[in-house]
This record gives sequence, structure tokens and C-alpha cells, in this order.
Amino acid sequence: MSATIQSPPGAPFSRIMGIGSYRPVRVVDNAEMCTMIESSDEWIVQRTGISERRWAGEDETIHYMSVQAARQAMERGGVTGEDIDCVIVATVTHMTQFPAIAPQIALELGAQGAPAYDISAACAGFCVGLAQADALVRSGAATNVLVIGVERLTDITNLTDRSTAFLFADGAGAAVVGPSDEPKIGPVVWGADGAAADVLKMTRMWDDETNEEKPTVYMEGQAVFKWASQTVARKTTEMLDKAGLKVEDLDLFVPHQANNRIIDAMMRTLRMPESVTVARDIKRQGNTSAASIPLAIETLYEEGLAKSGQTALIVGFGGGLIFAGQVIVLP
Ligand code: UT7
Repeated sequence: MSATIQSPPGAPFSRIMGIGSYRPVRVVDNAEMCTMIESSDEWIVQRTGISERRWAGEDETIHYMSVQAARQAMERGGVTGEDIDCVIVATVTHMTQFPAIAPQIALELGAQGAPAYDISAACAGFCVGLAQADALVRSGAATNVLVIGVERLTDITNLTDRSTAFLFADGAGAAVVGPSDEPKIGPVVWGADGAAADVLKMTRMWDDETNEEKPTVYMEGQAVFKWASQTVARKTTEMLDKAGLKVEDLDLFVPHQANNRIIDAMMRTLRMPESVTVARDIKRQGNTSAASIPLAIETLYEEGLAKSGQTALIVGFGGGLIFAGQVIVLP
């Protein structure tokens, strides 16, 4: 006789209840950058849109930045650590392979005992984490999920490599996802291409004894650029279709901040009307991988360009290659 397994229902829908972020204190402008690599402010601005970036100091660890961003998101979302019953940390720069950093962050936030784990989806990490949080809330596996995107990319960047050094930066962003009566997180559109694993990767394994230097980021910039501005750009229309929306329904477009020219290509593909506000946080933040989307949303709030209840398309893309995106309603 087969037993009947009970499966209690989850919430009908989910929503982002609060967003928070943390920016490292140290600002590195292009002039300072050009003391490390042969480049110019003009080239970096023209080819990427970056004027300055934030580099984390010794004390601004993955743990510290995550906790700061999470506390802000939780406060704004009106939840305490006790309300959080799942913590997901998206990062590729937690330098300890295991254990995951998420349980330690949960402990510090007062969510001790809650399931907590890390995900490795590079610059798609925040959107992948959000998709998981949405599914967990709707399945009943969790009620309030904390999603953190955090990176210290400078730990794995060769700061004298002129193909990557000026791009990458550090920071953290967080979102609390909880139950909702109406859909406020749209269906995720996501995918990966393992055949292109080599175009954006670490130069070698940690235990490679043939070289004493630590591994750093290797990127075939043009290959990643092409994939993002063509393949991922085409997928953004699917993100709207699946949510049953047209581009005119959007208030905001917040893509991963990798390169202004990739953002431009996505806007062309989407035939973005002028009524949509587009995040250009790359100018001040550089590329912060899993942290870039919540950081960019924070900047829009600060500038008065984003308001609660507005509809935004977000999309992350990067190493793997992996991409993910969805429509969200801002808290
Ligand atoms: O977050 C994960 C996703 N990452 C991305 O989406 C990044 C995608 N890729 C990119 O954003 C761009 O490929 C880069 C910004 C990394 C590079 O821009 P590019 O337009 O693809 O430059 P390139 O590598 O094709 O180089 C063009 C020229 C070359 O000179 P010549 O051969 O035309 O004379 C390079 O030597 O620019 C030169 N160059 C530089 N010049 C000044 C390359 N790097 C630099 C530099 N400063 N740092």
C-alpha cells in the first residue's frame, strides 16, 4: 500500500518586501586605475561607461558586506531574523570552498537554524537566487527568503591586467522575498551554455601547484560581449512575454551592470521607449557581478528615479555562461 504524502500549499504568489545594499568605502577613479594599467579615462568611459568603482578594504569582507545589505533589506521589509526561514547567498568570491558562508550570515542576522546555502551563478546570481526564493515561497518550503548577491571581485582580479582590471569591483545587495496575494515576481527566463565555460573563468584551480600565484579572472571580453548583447538580449523579450507584459508596461530596466554598450544593445532589442528609466550604475560602481542589480536599484531609489510599486525588468548574465531574468514589482 502506498502512503499518501501530504504537501501543504505555499503562498499563491511572492513579492520582494525590501531591498538593501552595501557599497565599500574606497572609491577608485579611472585616473587611479590608469596608474595600474596602460589605459585612459577616455577609453574606459567610452568602451564601458565606468568612471569609478568601489574596492573593498580588508574589513569589508563577504560576511560583513552581506550582513550590512541584509539588515537594510530586512528593516525595509519589516522582518527580523526570526522571520527569515531561508538564506541564499549568491557569490563566486567566498574564498572558502566549504562550508558555505550563508549559515554564518544567517547566524549573525538572528536566523539561526534556518536553511542557508550559497549558489554559484556569477553575474546571474541575484536573479537565480530570486527565482529560487519565488519558487520556495510558492511551494511552501519557506515563508520569508533572504537573497544576497555579494562579491569581492578584486580578490580574484589581476589589477595589472588591462583586459579586466578596470571592470571589476566589490559590493553587496540583498532582497527579502515573502508571500503575496498578487504576482509581484514574474516567471524566470534562464539558461546556461557550458560549451562557453572557457570565455569567462578563473585562470587555474586553487590547488594548482605549478604556480604559486592565486588564480584570477580570465575573460575573452568580445565573446562575452557578443553573447550578452545578442543571445541574452533576445531572451529579455521572453522575460516580458512570460510575464504577459509589453515593454511599454515597464517603469524601469535594471540589467546587470557589465558594460553600457551591452545595455544599449538590450534596449535596441527591446525597442525600449523613452518612458522607461534605465539603470546606469556601472558609471560609479563598475561590475560587481551578483551584487550589481540590487546596487543599481538602490541608486535609482536614491536618485528619486525608482518608487515602490513600479515595474522593473531585471536580467543577470555572466560566467558559466549563465543568464537569468524576470519582471519584478519594486517594494
Ligand atoms: O559581468 C560578466 C559579463 N562581462 C561582460 O559582459 C564583459 C563583456 N566585454 C566587454 O565589456 C568588453 O569586451 C571590454 C570592455 C572588456 C573590452 O572592450 P572591447 O571593445 O571588446 O575591447 P577589445 O578587447 O576589442 O580591444 C579594442 C582595442 C584594442 O586595441 P586595437 O587592437 O584596436 O588597437 C585593445 O588593445 O582597445 C585596446 N584595449 C585597451 N585600450 C585601453 C583593450 N583594453 C584596453 C584598456 N585601455 N584597458
